[in-house]
Amino acid sequence: RIIHLADYRPTDFVLERVDLTFELDPTETKVEARLIFHRREGADPSAPLVLDGDDLNMTGLMFDQVELAAERYTATPESLTIRDLPETAPFEITVTTQINPEANTQLMGLYRSNGIYCTQCEAEGFRRITYFPDRPDVLAVYTVNIIADKDTNPLLLSNGNFLGGAGYGPGKHFAAWFDPHPKPSYLFALVAGDLGVVEDTFTTMSGREVALKIYVEHGKEARAAYAMDALKRSMKWDEEVFGREYDLDIFMIVAVSDFNMGAMENKGLNIFNDKYVLADPETATDQDYANIEAIIAHEYFHNWTGNRITCRDWFQLCLKEGLTVYRDHEFSADQRSRPVKRIAEVRHLRSEQFPEDAGPLAHPVRPTAYREINNFYTTTVYEKGSEVTRMIATILGRDGFKKGMDLYFERHDGEAATVEDFVKSFEDANGRDLKQFSLWYNQAGTPQITVSSSYDAAAKTLTLSLEQMIPATPGQSNKEPMHIPLRFALIGANGGEQAPTSVTGGEVSGDVLHLTERSQTVVFSGIASRPVVSLNRSFSAPVTLHFSQTTDDLALIARFETDLFSRWQAITDLALPNLTAAAGAAAKGKPISCDKGLLDALLAIAADESLEPAFRAQALTLPSESDIARELGSNNDPDAIHAGRQGILKEIAVAGAATFEALYKGLVSDAAYSPDAASAGRRSLRNAALGFLALSENTPVAAAEAFAKADNMTDLSQALTVLAHRFPDSPETHAALASFETRFASNALVLDKWFQIQATIPGDGSLDRIMRLMQSPNFIASNPNRVRALIGTFAFGNPTGFNRADGTAYRFFAEQVLAIDKRNPQLAARLLTAMRSWRLLEPTRADHAREALMTIERSASLSNDVRDIVDRTLKG
Ligand code: ARG
Ligand code: ZN
Repeated sequence: RIIHLADYRPTDFVLERVDLTFELDPTETKVEARLIFHRREGADPSAPLVLDGDDLNMTGLMFDQVELAAERYTATPESLTIRDLPETAPFEITVTTQINPEANTQLMGLYRSNGIYCTQCEAEGFRRITYFPDRPDVLAVYTVNIIADKDTNPLLLSNGNFLGGAGYGPGKHFAAWFDPHPKPSYLFALVAGDLGVVEDTFTTMSGREVALKIYVEHGKEARAAYAMDALKRSMKWDEEVFGREYDLDIFMIVAVSDFNMGAMENKGLNIFNDKYVLADPETATDQDYANIEAIIAHEYFHNWTGNRITCRDWFQLCLKEGLTVYRDHEFSADQRSRPVKRIAEVRHLRSEQFPEDAGPLAHPVRPTAYREINNFYTTTVYEKGSEVTRMIATILGRDGFKKGMDLYFERHDGEAATVEDFVKSFEDANGRDLKQFSLWYNQAGTPQITVSSSYDAAAKTLTLSLEQMIPATPGQSNKEPMHIPLRFALIGANGGEQAPTSVTGGEVSGDVLHLTERSQTVVFSGIASRPVVSLNRSFSAPVTLHFSQTTDDLALIARFETDLFSRWQAITDLALPNLTAAAGAAAKGKPISCDKGLLDALLAIAADESLEPAFRAQALTLPSESDIARELGSNNDPDAIHAGRQGILKEIAVAGAATFEALYKGLVSDAAYSPDAASAGRRSLRNAALGFLALSENTPVAAAEAFAKADNMTDLSQALTVLAHRFPDSPETHAALASFETRFASNALVLDKWFQIQATIPGDGSLDRIMRLMQSPNFIASNPNRVRALIGTFAFGNPTGFNRADGTAYRFFAEQVLAIDKRNPQLAARLLTAMRSWRLLEPTRADHAREALMTIERSASLSNDVRDIVDRTLKG
């Protein structure tokens, strides 16, 4: 069944209040839901009440406290329909269901893992707990009573403020929670069990004291300190930058080890994958710290963008996700280095979202139809959604953006809103029409912009010709031209910027050129000498530029741009032709060579102490194999791409050996580990240097020494990666892997890294290694993090291993997806998206990939989740 945006209509009944009572039991939990409804004004007076269910078993049903006669209702596991209801008067429905949290391997609804009861209700998990109008536009006030065994569940938590608790018969106790803020069911949460806690407080800008609590497994409390610090910084930042204050007396975070996604913003009770809470220097990398900071902020920011203002329907998902990702990006940019953060964001967007937008799963930031909503928690909705929000800020400027946000909060607080409501707030606050801009929400596909420039020395004019093309995507063959804000600079030969005296042929405001036509010729006058054009500064628009600039022009940008993002982009643009040519050479068995211009530019940046180390490390991290594949377009041979890229890296390593040696020695630090961005940047540059040293050396000695000396997880895991990838069969590597495994045997999050590092060792031997690792006693198929670490990392992050020319890895992968689908469809569907670019492979591999996809499609018992992905992947 396909759900269409166009079919949206409000419910016939308004839900006023929800009272839930849980009698928790590992296998027989009893849920009583008392729901007070009245018929909506103007609704059909004979319409029945239809509530959603999923796999439910009803054990009781009352209408106004009296058992309901069988002829007045129909209950199936999937829905409850009640007929002959009052035309206007409010009435109460009491439903009792019995559920089995221990058997809930989907991890949606109420489940129990490692002795902890917890919930995940977004998007449609609440209907696995009780029958309910389980849709985001039904907002109600909830009271929750939890009854449970006292010994095993000293902790009983739900949303809102704690009302009270007491003993409840022999061995049991109860707790009551009340959430005064009306909310949709997807924000409901319950946690029960025995956990340790870290406590703090935050005083809001109006002077209210909020209790902060982070719950983790006993013994892991010290590892929650950084998350607590990030939470307090997030609360402060949201007050300072967006004027948003927290609105309950308590804010809680619970870390659990079995979780399908990253985290969940349940009102006042965020639930996290513990990977995004727990950190200490011995067990977490700099990247882990940065992720924790970002995700703690993201979920906290949802309190206003998602919870206070929620979504009318799931088509509007980007209204909360795109906006909240934008907010967490801005937060991290303020806490760390803005340009380095921007480079990382763009790298991520290009490697994850661009392939999605170019493949069979492409969909608009706001889709118009879905078969399974869980499959739309995508990088398009999240990351492209964030970029669309960023473009609004670029177009309106800082103040105009702030005015629009303020109006949005003022108008829609307490409501379930739409993308149109959001855009209208910016239009009204700024007196500006954003109609054409709104196409960004509706048209899928990454805009391709072809640019050429010419300078007329006599007339002192620079002419830029721009053309936009938005590729066809599934269900959308014809696209309208969009409003694309391109930041730019005209850079003179001495590196200074040139400002035009006038511009014709397009709107320019400040350093933003507004491309609005399909093709546009913009003339800049009063330009004294031929400038180099730096276009799409800071990646102001999520587009692909086709602008053939000379090596000299790119080198000038790489040297002089004041926008560091654009300097990095210029290096990337210098590198890509080298990498694609190298892939071509490798395919033909020809020698690989690297332009001197690129080598010079890279080594200059590597050694330039006026630049922050994190930026230099980013510059030294060349485009990935999937970036190169994307640049090549189609008929991809992952082995040739890998060989070509390795060849270029090796040339850089040899040419820069002295530089890398100096960096590696010079950046050593004997200060105690600190996760701050500057220290992390030094480690990343030093580890990049180590990677190059290992390439120019032929023995694992240096990497083994780095492994032995590392005193933090960043350096340790980097050294292990270098060893395993560069010298996979050396005794040093075997010894290091074994010692790492033994040392961290009791730390699941670190073991995930051990699996990940091995899952990405390139080459034909990968598949055997993966199969062997699956037999390891540490491979726990019920833990999503572990499955992602091994099978997900293999499929998404090991191009040569996964795309073996004989197709055996695809077949293996298809079997795994089918097996995982039986227990956890969401996880299986997410993994399967790794095959989304199969049509871009050379024909032999593409045939094998199609075969594997068809094996999945032929399976009789697929979940809706996997069925949806496999169908679209084969069709699109
Ligand atoms: N709203 C959560 C977040 O981004 C993600 C929840 C996704 N859940 C799901 N079942 N798809 O913060
Ligand atoms: Zn989110």
